[in-house]
This record gives sequence, C-alpha cells and structure tokens, in this order.
Amino acid sequence: MKEKIEIIQTDITLLAVDAIVNAANRTLLGGGGVDGAIHRAAGPELVEECATLMGCETGDAKITRGYRLPAGHVIHTVGPVWHGGDKGEPELLASCYRRSFRLAHESGLKSLAFPAISAGVYGYPMERACEIALTETRAALAQYPEIEKVVFALYSAEALAIYREKFDEIFG
Ligand code: AR6
Repeated sequence: MKEKIEIIQTDITLLAVDAIVNAANRTLLGGGGVDGAIHRAAGPELVEECATLMGCETGDAKITRGYRLPAGHVIHTVGPVWHGGDKGEPELLASCYRRSFRLAHESGLKSLAFPAISAGVYGYPMERACEIALTETRAALAQYPEIEKVVFALYSAEALAIYREKFDEIFG
C-alpha cells in the first residue's frame, strides 16, 4: 500500500492526476492560498460551476471538472479553522479526507493529490494535520483498492520534511 503514496514539494496545480483536492471555504467561490492558485490555473469556468453547488459544509466535499488544469477534476473540501483542537477540529479534518476519498471512489477516479488541508490560513498545526491526512489515507486505501496513487503536494520544505517523517512512523 505504501508504494501508492508520493510525498513531494510542488505546486498542486501542476499535477496531472484524476483529481486535485482544494482546501476551500464554505462558499466554494474562491479565496487565497491553494484555493486561489487552483482557481487561477483552472480559469473562470471553475467558479461558474462552483456557484451552482450552493456552498459546502465544513468537513464535507464536492467535485467539479478541472477545466484548464492538467487534473481532470477538483474535489473541493472545507477544512476546519483551528481553535485549539477541542472544538471538533480533528474529526472535521478527518471527515474532509474521508469525504474526498469517497467522492473519488464514487466518481471512478484512480489518482488523487492533496494539499495540507487547514494547515495554512486556517491555522491547523502541520504535524497534527499531517497525522490525520496519513491515517485517513491508510484507511481509505484499504477500503478502496482501486485507488492507485495518492500524492501529497506540499508547498514548503518544512511541510515536506514533516510528512516524510510521519510517513515512516505511520506506514513503517
Ligand atoms: N500548491 C500546494 N500547496 C499550496 C499551494 C499550492 N499552489 N498554495 C498554498 N499551499 P491554505 P487552509 C499550501 O491557506 O489553511 C483560502 O483562502 C499552504 O502553504 O491554502 O485550508 C480558502 O478560500 C498550506 O500548507 O488553506 C479558505 O478561506 C496549505 O496549502 C482558506 O484559505 C493550505 O493552506 C483555507 O485555509
């Protein structure tokens, strides 16, 4: 299973996978960070499709086409804002990964790329966010054996190092 996981430092908008996951907000109408980068690279058709989705709850996910992106689809998920960790943040962040994998499965997708959801503007500590990402990915790969590749697209060298270290801990 661990051979299916790739941990790299890159701009997620460059990846030609079946779907890239967007760390969106509840409006789904764009924003800064990775959300802004994805909308810029996908072109204006993306926000037009997003506007038909009527937003998205925290912890949930919705799928659109990828338009001008090399990725076929975008899975938009809304991570929790970090408020210290006892306001349901871990469960909500885990739910983002579960709902994203379930949508990928339902849509017949085989390769996915994730950014570090919630670990930017939303303030989730990177190590804790990473632990949830990798634990949920291990569970999802067991549940959905047709998924062939999961890429973690990290923006900084620091995030990359954290993911690589946690990967060794969690996947042995
Ligand atoms: N490729 C990969 N990772 C990126 C990229 C990129 N092009 N750009 C930034 N990151 P954030 P959040 C990293 O803030 O914390 C938006 O305004 C970034 O370094 O994008 O879930 C939304 O509209 C960080 O490690 O998402 C929401 O309002 C990670 O992606 C809000 O921000 C996530 O940072 C969501 O906040």
